[in-house]
Amino acid sequence: MSIQVLKPKFEIDECLDAVRECLEKGWTGMGFKTVEFENAWKEYTGHKNAYYLNSNTVGLHLAVKILKMQNGWKDNDEIISTPITFVSTNHVILYENMHATFADVDQYLCLDPVDVVKKINDKTRAVIFVGYGGRVGQLDKIIEICKKHNLKLILDGAHMSGTRVNGVCPGTWDGVDVTVYSYQAVKNLPTGDSGMICFADEKNDKLARQLAWLGINKDTYARSNKGTYAWKYDVDYVGYKYNGNAIMAAIALVQLKYLDRDNARRREIVEIYNKAFENNPKIKIVSAPYHDECSYHIYELIVPDREDLLGELAKNDIYGGVHYRDNTEYSMYLYAKGTCKYASEVSEHLITLPMHMWLTDEEVEKIISIVNKFVK
Ligand SMILES: Cc1ncc(COP(=O)(O)O)c(C=O)c1O
Repeated sequence: MSIQVLKPKFEIDECLDAVRECLEKGWTGMGFKTVEFENAWKEYTGHKNAYYLNSNTVGLHLAVKILKMQNGWKDNDEIISTPITFVSTNHVILYENMHATFADVDQYLCLDPVDVVKKINDKTRAVIFVGYGGRVGQLDKIIEICKKHNLKLILDGAHMSGTRVNGVCPGTWDGVDVTVYSYQAVKNLPTGDSGMICFADEKNDKLARQLAWLGINKDTYARSNKGTYAWKYDVDYVGYKYNGNAIMAAIALVQLKYLDRDNARRREIVEIYNKAFENNPKIKIVSAPYHDECSYHIYELIVPDREDLLGELAKNDIYGGVHYRDNTEYSMYLYAKGTCKYASEVSEHLITLPMHMWLTDEEVEKIISIVNKFVK
């Protein structure tokens, strides 16, 4: 059987029962399970606010939009972001007619605080930090920088479901204005597509709820919950249709029960991989700064010849991947090419090895043996 780079594992019977509950109740849209999941997520993470959405991408958009509205930012003001990420992180800056300024990454493939400081100017308003691979990187230093320079901080926590540092979810750290999670199909907590936005400030959470529901000031669930259906509402903004739905939330609620168990297995796999590669002088492991509770969404190595290694793995029916290519190489962001030296270098050598709940120890050993035989 072929080994995929990422492959979700669902608790199928429990998920089907939870979906059946929605179908039997006749409530598959926003509300019911979405509210249950928001509460469960708040309890699991310690976030004060949580609003369920149809993806992380739309959550990042709302984060930028709301901070822009609330703080009077202008078009062409700047947000500092990372070139090593999925393009969603950077597109949302452009959705709001702002400018994405790129800072380089560090050994954790997260934003490098030293380069972030160099990229700050009079037009800088915020930083988007990606907890890449679930790693917290030097987020603590980025928080200090944002406080010092009066910048807002958005945490793209797409990979961070379950990451904790000393038992605390980094998205809840003082100084993080908003954290956005992804429950896309292959994430640590997989659904079909969905996400969560967690604002530190309750006012912003309220606004997110309204903007994600077309700008309507009372959502359908709130209006139908009291026995009679109150049809009257006002529309204060040109909002979006960004809300999550009960079917996805039903799956999320089940998968959340198994997130810590799954992440513990991820850490076991990482340990086996790390031990096997640490003495190979041609391979550099991208490790986490704290080893206790990283979600390890993906497992990356830096190797001399990535394309050949991908080919060798494929010959053995094993499929590695590349997460992610330096965004300044895409046409949209070419204006920033050459501004992040390490990112552009490392982008040529990054390979993602299989990491998921279906992997057996024997398969991990097989992958290791092929990699270590080939990269020497
Ligand atoms: C770092 C990062 N940010 C944002 C996203 C977008 O997440 P979603 O697919 O839930 O919109 C992804 C998805 O791959 C991601 O890896």
